[in-house]
Amino acid sequence: MFADLKAHYEALKDRRIEAVLDATRAEAFAAMTGALRLDYAKTQIDDKALSMLIHLLDTRGVADKREAMFTGQPINDTEGRAVLHTALRNLDGGAVMVDGQDVMPDVLATLDRMSDFATSVRDGSYTGQGGQITDIVNIGIGGSDLGPKMGTLALAPYHDGPRCHFVSNVDPADIAQTLRGLEPTTTLVIVASKTFTTIETMTNARTAKAWMGEAVSDVGAQFAALSTAAEKTADFGIDPSRVFGFEDWVGGRYSMWGPIGLSLMIAIGPDAFRAFLRGGQAMDRHFRAAPWGENLPALLAMVGLWHNQVCGHTTRAVLPYDNNLSRLPAYLQQLEMESNGKGVSMDGVALPYNSGPVVWGEPGTNGQHAFYQLIHQGTRVVPCEFLVAARGHEDALHHQHQLLVANCLAQSEALMKGRSLDEARAKVADKFEGAELERQAAHRVFPGNRPSITLTYPQLTPEVLGMLVALYEHRVFVEGVVLGVNSYDQWGVELGKELATSLQPVVEGEKAADDKDGSTAALVAFLQRHGL
Ligand code: F6P
Repeated sequence: MFADLKAHYEALKDRRIEAVLDATRAEAFAAMTGALRLDYAKTQIDDKALSMLIHLLDTRGVADKREAMFTGQPINDTEGRAVLHTALRNLDGGAVMVDGQDVMPDVLATLDRMSDFATSVRDGSYTGQGGQITDIVNIGIGGSDLGPKMGTLALAPYHDGPRCHFVSNVDPADIAQTLRGLEPTTTLVIVASKTFTTIETMTNARTAKAWMGEAVSDVGAQFAALSTAAEKTADFGIDPSRVFGFEDWVGGRYSMWGPIGLSLMIAIGPDAFRAFLRGGQAMDRHFRAAPWGENLPALLAMVGLWHNQVCGHTTRAVLPYDNNLSRLPAYLQQLEMESNGKGVSMDGVALPYNSGPVVWGEPGTNGQHAFYQLIHQGTRVVPCEFLVAARGHEDALHHQHQLLVANCLAQSEALMKGRSLDEARAKVADKFEGAELERQAAHRVFPGNRPSITLTYPQLTPEVLGMLVALYEHRVFVEGVVLGVNSYDQWGVELGKELATSLQPVVEGEKAADDKDGSTAALVAFLQRHGL
């Protein structure tokens, strides 16, 4: 499928991007919708590559599949489910039908219930035993943690509600350190679990219940649940009035738009949360209507396919020059790698090309003083994806923001330009000579011609965050359709879960490790000798 594109890349790859990057290219290889602008001019993609990629989207049926998704067809076909997280932000859209039923009345009613509850927590009409709620503890993992946590950090400047804490890891250090110092009588615990069976979440929820039980007489009254499993939340002792449900057509890693976003809503308020939803809805409309060459999610996907499947650069660095997006790389790791990290196509046949990329990253400028060395001079090419706002939220410190922006732009420029041997020699010619000059100069060469894209926006508002998250979701969708994988299941997480269950009696010393391999048995033995 990628042979023609690969041949084109081979012919193109030694061209210096800088040499062709005039104002015309800068304008042609950029696109905008609303407040978001995508610049992909600092890549090797040219007109021919772009039209070949667009042709690929057409031949792979992306447009039809897109309509199938938005209209509630069961495109998650290994689980027989629709994929309709877009319905959660369809604030003023029309009906969305699943199995002949419009799901929107329920979606909007749940949003209203969430808003009422969030308001009551924020204004003190809902209280804990000790009075107004001061702290929220969201217990969840994967999509039931990463989305609300990433969003809560991203929108920190908009917080005017109680403090929010997130517990995800079954490592007792996580919950113990979070609860330490909190006042149980003014804490609300939100158990976020689509299935309400995830072992980490349920273990932490029981620990939180025991902690609260030492100080609060009606523990269940200070718990809320976000789940599709109403019976299980009732068994846990949470009153249905504080249970916010959603349907199985919302995948965990796509769920921050609905009940799973409750902690974010409590932190920033229902109005700001709706602005976040409106941003997502605006991106949905753009994605459905814009031609591929101007369509941000499609362009981002084409850049991704170009770098990974065509050029063979198998990782992708997400580098937000926006400290409030510090968890965006982690959020995208789940979104992209759990969605498109698959080994077989829809029909069960092994993929003959790379699946989705390894996604990683850290905010700038921190990463510059850590791993950028490899990005600039290492032997592998790492396509970089920068994000930066025109302004932060700290008006009095705008000069610091300007320094941040200068650093961001400098990195993509440096990646592209590099530094030649002659330039490197000139840098140190006053210090060294002869063979030592050559040796020292070689260490200072930057190959350059390394691709990057940059997403810019005026400011990281709730609406812009909504646009960004929906942009990445749709990118994953487009890449998944082209690769022919099911982006909406996650069978790859099952085996480890099953083996952990079978290992539990072994690590607890109730069962011998006889049926385990030698290495696993030796690891258990070592840990048991040292206090396991
Ligand atoms: O194990 C993977 C996974 O199913 C993710 O897809 C999901 O986001 C996470 O676990 C948490 O699941 P739940 O919300 O059901 O607890």
